[in-house]
Amino acid sequence: MIDYNQQFYNQLIRKKLAKSFLTVGWGSKKTQKIRFENIYKYFDKNNFSVLDVGCGLGDFYLFLKKKKIKFRYTGIDINETFIKKCKRKYKNVNFINSHFLRYKIKTKPDYIIISGALNLPMDNYLILLKKIILKMHKNSKEKSIFNLLSSSSKKIYQFNAYTNIGKLSEYIDTIAKHYLIDKTYLSHDISVIIHSK
Ligand SMILES: C[S@@+](CC[C@H](N)C(=O)[O-])C[C@H]1O[C@@H](n2cnc3c(N)ncnc32)[C@H](O)[C@@H]1O
Repeated sequence: MIDYNQQFYNQLIRKKLAKSFLTVGWGSKKTQKIRFENIYKYFDKNNFSVLDVGCGLGDFYLFLKKKKIKFRYTGIDINETFIKKCKRKYKNVNFINSHFLRYKIKTKPDYIIISGALNLPMDNYLILLKKIILKMHKNSKEKSIFNLLSSSSKKIYQFNAYTNIGKLSEYIDTIAKHYLIDKTYLSHDISVIIHSK
């Protein structure tokens, strides 16, 4: 649900928190980075292009930039304030204010990634989740990679959305031949890596 998503992040923006990882809703910089590393480790192409869905304050862009590698980056987020801040901070980088499902992808990037944008409840969560996964899969040249909170987590917070891995893989089986579910890096998190070919 866009409204809940906007409300959630706008109240964090109003708090004027000193650190970007706090403003985009992460509990710590460490776990934000662990998630980024766990996405990046599946990038196997040099000089790649990446679409970062739910880019927040562009921290994944900064993470890649520090690696001193060649890449082309586009970040998209439904939160207008986040996108304005990204554009101010990172000149000449492609940041777009849009809901992913409304965004027209003109050129397929090698990788489409999502870190954290699927963690809040949305109306018809499973239906929307499937649409997002299908769009990622159809529009990436190499892989689509995203993380979610697992419903088998020991701690369940009512303001978060949790996904049943079994149901999720039943769905992915219907759209993709090759994929991987990685549950090795944080106890409550799963990453899904879907190969485009
Ligand atoms: C937890 S934050 C993570 C930000 C960033 N990926 C990071 O790890 O630093 C999730 C972000 O996803 C955005 N978002 C949620 N649903 C979205 C959608 N359908 N399309 C685009 N952005 C979305 C939110 O506005 C928010 O900025």
